[in-house]
Amino acid sequence: MINIALPKGRLGEKTYSMMAAAGFECPAILEKNRKLTFENKEKGVRYFWVKPSDVSIYVERGAADIGVCGKDILLEYEPDVYELLDLGIGKCRMCVAGPAEFFDEEEKTLKVATKFPKIASDYYGGMGRDIDLIHLNGSIEIAPLLGLSDVIVDIVETGSTLKENNLSVMSEVVPISARLICNKVSYQFKYDKIMAVRDGLKGVVSGDKAIETIRLEH
Ligand code: PRP
Repeated sequence: MINIALPKGRLGEKTYSMMAAAGFECPAILEKNRKLTFENKEKGVRYFWVKPSDVSIYVERGAADIGVCGKDILLEYEPDVYELLDLGIGKCRMCVAGPAEFFDEEEKTLKVATKFPKIASDYYGGMGRDIDLIHLNGSIEIAPLLGLSDVIVDIVETGSTLKENNLSVMSEVVPISARLICNKVSYQFKYDKIMAVRDGLKGVVSGDKAIETIRLEH
């Protein structure tokens, strides 16, 4: 059996849909109930739903053999896992954003609010820029509006949160998408099965067949 951690929500539904298209379907997942684990013995897969930001923890500690999480989580927390494949879904951008009228004076320490302190400090460190890092847990867009920070480093997907708060993108830090990750011990001991899943998903990613997202109760 291979244990697969799926991120709850749209990304998990998309991931499961790709897994099903790759031949690793699990009909039990379609049943309406509150169960969090589902298995298909014949295909040798067991899926379970976890909070998206927890996927890498399950995989790093071996509670899951593989899982799917955003590149933002991998860059921020650097879990000790292998990254096997870019799934090309959950695409967004990590950006610096601020009020249109903000004028960046390079000699001044920049006040940066973010949920991603490592990504932000790596980015500005790479430019040799001094920053005052303000680590917040959400609603980052409010920080420059209230004068808590000059700019933010945050995820931009559609751009509507920025627009509705009169902020705009000043630069792109890194593009983000969902990645298939793997526990390092499982990679050795379940290599064939994990490669079968990786190759199946690779075929789905590179295929031109549109995958319809299966809506799931979870
Ligand atoms: C994320 C991110 C932005 C928003 C971007 O927040 O931090 O606020 O989504 O999406 P958009 O470009 O499509 O508007 P999330 O929904 O995770 O909530 P949070 O503010 O609690 O972090």
